[in-house]
Amino acid sequence: MAKKDVAVIVGSFRKGSINEILARALARLGEDRMAFTFCRIDDLPLFCQDIEDPPPPAVERLKAEVSAAQGVLVVTPEYNRSIPAALKNALDWANRPARRNDWAGKPVAITGATRGNIGTAVAQQGLRQTLVASGAVVMGMPTVYFTYRDGLIAEDFSITDDGTAKFLKGFMEKFDDWIETNG
Ligand SMILES: Cc1cc2nc3c(=O)[nH]c(=O)nc-3n(C[C@H](O)[C@H](O)[C@H](O)COP(=O)(O)O)c2cc1C
Repeated sequence: MAKKDVAVIVGSFRKGSINEILARALARLGEDRMAFTFCRIDDLPLFCQDIEDPPPPAVERLKAEVSAAQGVLVVTPEYNRSIPAALKNALDWANRPARRNDWAGKPVAITGATRGNIGTAVAQQGLRQTLVASGAVVMGMPTVYFTYRDGLIAEDFSITDDGTAKFLKGFMEKFDDWIETNG
């Protein structure tokens, strides 16, 4: 069976981002069924309706990646119990202009990593709300609120703990099923 095209949006572009590490580990776990495109969001201008139509080139690139993908994986840090502004900016751009909402009917899975115990649970709640409001078909279960520990993900993005690897592999398999059912 052909691999599904999946766009990945990570809400942090800092060097050493634990969310990018998690996203790369998930891509590795899902690579037997899916082909992943990591989207840039660091060069997007701040959203403003005055410049939404036609969108600036960096936005057109993001919109083309989201539009072409059969599914989108969004991996978010938690900033002050919400999602980072850069991620919200990217989500809003992909939603606009209104006749070109790339989220409409798009199968999406969400997750996120923090070193704290709640594992981005609050940020993910807000992320889900924004995506659903944009028309995305967001996978409900399983949820992954990832508490990051040094050494849990190796430099080659393999998971060093068997139980965690199995759990995350199951998440990616469910996402593959979700795209199959809702794509
Ligand atoms: C502005 C700011 C706000 C933060 N707020 C939270 C928070 O609400 N909850 C949390 O668990 N961690 C919070 N953190 C810590 C982040 O989880 C941590 O910096 C994490 O490494 C960010 O993800 P990244 O490594 O992918 O950039 C915050 C960090 C920053 C810079």
